[in-house]
Amino acid sequence: MPNTNSIGFVCGTKGDAVTFLVNTNVTLSFGQIVRIESDKRSFYARVVNSESSSTLETIEQLREAQGKEAFGPYSAYRSVEAVLFLEKRGDSIRSPTFNPNYRDQVYAATDEDCAVLNLTGELQVGRLRSENQLLSSVGINIDAIPRMMGMFGMTGSGKTNTELVINAQIIDNSPRTVALIYDFAGQLLEGKEIKTQKGLKHHPLFPTRIQYYSGQDGKMAVGLKTITPGKLEMLFPDIQPPQRRLAWQLFRHFGANWIENSRELYRSEGNVGVRAQKVVVEALMQKLSSLSGELFPSSDYTFVDSALQNICNGVSCLVDISGMRSEDQNRVVCLSSSTIAEHYKRTWESNFDEWLKLPTLLITLEEAHEFLDPNKPRTIFSDIALTYRKYRVGLNAVTPRPSRINFDVFAELWTKVIMKTELKKDRMYLTENTPYMEYSETEIKMLDVGEALLISEPKIKFAVPIRVTHYPEYLEKHPPIDHGLRDFQSLSIMDEKLRMLRSQEKVKL
Ligand SMILES: Nc1ncnc2c1ncn2[C@@H]1O[C@H](COP(=O)(O)OP(=O)(O)OP(=O)(O)O)[C@@H](O)[C@H]1O
Ligand SMILES: [Mg+2]
Repeated sequence: MPNTNSIGFVCGTKGDAVTFLVNTNVTLSFGQIVRIESDKRSFYARVVNSESSSTLETIEQLREAQGKEAFGPYSAYRSVEAVLFLEKRGDSIRSPTFNPNYRDQVYAATDEDCAVLNLTGELQVGRLRSENQLLSSVGINIDAIPRMMGMFGMTGSGKTNTELVINAQIIDNSPRTVALIYDFAGQLLEGKEIKTQKGLKHHPLFPTRIQYYSGQDGKMAVGLKTITPGKLEMLFPDIQPPQRRLAWQLFRHFGANWIENSRELYRSEGNVGVRAQKVVVEALMQKLSSLSGELFPSSDYTFVDSALQNICNGVSCLVDISGMRSEDQNRVVCLSSSTIAEHYKRTWESNFDEWLKLPTLLITLEEAHEFLDPNKPRTIFSDIALTYRKYRVGLNAVTPRPSRINFDVFAELWTKVIMKTELKKDRMYLTENTPYMEYSETEIKMLDVGEALLISEPKIKFAVPIRVTHYPEYLEKHPPIDHGLRDFQSLSIMDEKLRMLRSQEKVKL
């Protein structure tokens, strides 16, 4: 390892904790990675604490402060505590088997160390932070997608920017990967920033690899005829078994028109045409009547089929549910995710070769605490997080409130991007339930906007301090591609052209 100047030397070790004294004029920061050379081994450690003091007695300190006497340059010191996370011996890298020795030299991590730590990946998230420098790129691999992800940080900490950066690269890697993104705030298409205004619309592959669905243009409808009783659980998580049985009875009786016919009958005659207990009828009909006509019209079209088809073809889907009632948002999100995830599962079971051709899917879910709260009825997302890994369906749970995420699900999120979090309860939850994070509670509070700690097991087993790439910077490196669409005035010609572009791409694949 080419050594730059050492920044200090080890003055004590205990278990995985190392204390070292820092040379004068060296600046360090919490979370910084340091290397300790120890005979034939190198150890890597993260700075977790620091203390400065002097060996002088108080009276001597006072005399020196008053300028009456000088007590020598080595009497003041700064000691730093660091926690070991990796050991390198020859070419082998592993968790530490021992700890460094007294007087071993300490160095600040360099770009060469980044190579040793193997922090780069196919999906680049940002760059390694080392004090005030940015070192080489840090990223996760595509096989991390189905191992589930989480992004945590308080309002304004940079979660949406990180979502954009990761999903943009999932789109770049299509059709190997594909993204299904739920946008609760309506800011991912165009960007809602006063200064930059950049969103997925500005992605160079937007015309061919991204499909946008919005609740506001009527395109995001779920026709009542497409809703079978089996899907009711996605629309009404609190539905009880007797109501489900009644729904099946109605479905057998009326066929695909079961919701409209039973609603009509109930309105005009107070019954639903099949024998059932009054309370059960009331409970079910109350649920069915709450489906708004705008989102659930009486048709046999559902945007979910279109989204499914796009996902299977490697076209990422941005589903804008901003401005909807929160019950409708939940319905759209659960219904579409379950249909798509279920398709992956069924294809895996019944047609493995076909499944191999499906792109690896990442579902980005903001407000994830609303869907993964242990105190609320279970949703499809806990199933996805717990069991859909083998089908290559991944979940990216984004939330400012990690402590409200079901513990079992939280434990399954192998990649975590942790951004500034001030609430103690959330910081405690993050550090107590994430391996190698037990010393990082203070650090999480002190992160700046766009700064994060990244863990991606099994590849990155420790919290790497990074600065996430700013999405506008990413776009600068990925200039627009001319798809030859500008000359077309009519939207229908443009649609046709897009269809052609997509089918040509499919043929090429
Ligand atoms: N890596 C970064 N570099 C520079 N600026 C950033 C970075 N990440 C985020 N920002 C800026 O910080 C602001 C907040 O970011 P963002 O909207 O991503 O936060 P958020 O966590 O999604 O907030 P909210 O909880 O309100 O949705 C934005 O102005 C964004 O441009
Ligand atoms: Mg946001």
